[in-house]
Amino acid sequence: MVRVIMLSPPGAGKGTHSRWVTLQTGAAHISSGDLLRAEVARGSGLGRQVATYTDRGDLVPDDLIFRILAPAVVAAARHTGGYVLDGFPRTMPQALRAAQFGADLALTSNAVIYLTAPEEELVSRLLDRARREGRADDTLDVIRHRLAVFAKETAPLIDYYRSRGILLELSTNRPEAEVHADLLDQLQARGLMLPVAGESRPDHAEPAEA
Ligand code: AP5
Ligand code: MG
Repeated sequence: MVRVIMLSPPGAGKGTHSRWVTLQTGAAHISSGDLLRAEVARGSGLGRQVATYTDRGDLVPDDLIFRILAPAVVAAARHTGGYVLDGFPRTMPQALRAAQFGADLALTSNAVIYLTAPEEELVSRLLDRARREGRADDTLDVIRHRLAVFAKETAPLIDYYRSRGILLELSTNRPEAEVHADLLDQLQARGLMLPVAGESRPDHAEPAEA
């Protein structure tokens, strides 16, 4: 079963392509942003704390993230045997702690999908989404800040995962169907055998882990 991490700047397509991988494989989609927004929507004390970071586009402290995410990952892996992690990890300390957590529970990730698109395309997608969905952090200033946070805090993970031999890089500056075809090819080439349409879900060969 696939256990993948989606890594990208805001708007490059983590959510879009995570949903697709989930549909193809049955692995659980775990979005850190969705879990945080659900906590904010609940209006809990934790949610109010979370909103002070997310509304500005700053990262939520690691301990809060692990408190919210760890139970979801364990439950998902128990139910489906796999996961698509959307938006986590996104700092080096998170990546190192996630690697340890994965090793301890035999849930190590087997690929990291790094999605790219030009910065002005990202901004334009998120402003479009703001008009449709009204996400609190999709304002121009906060989008620019999220992009800067990505460059400073998250971009170092690209080389980290590349050096571990598990990074797949894809441009999303093209139609979604093309991205999906390329993603399918790359995952199949790695032995993460995604089913083709109409076939039942196959068992996956145990891929290399890092
Ligand atoms: P999060 O919710 O993860 O937001 P993000 O990283 O800013 O990414 P987005 O959800 O905006 O974009 P996406 O990459 O999912 O793109 P999408 O598929 O939607 O995090 C929000 C906040 O939570 C963070 O700022 C932080 O405060 C906090 N947080 C989350 N995780 C954390 C962590 N681990 N540690 C600390 N804090 C954390 O696509 C965008 C749009 O483009 C869509 O409308 C889509 O339809 C469109 N689109 C996608 N692909 C294409 C395409 N190929 N062509 C045309 N349009 C496309
Ligand atoms: Mg998203």
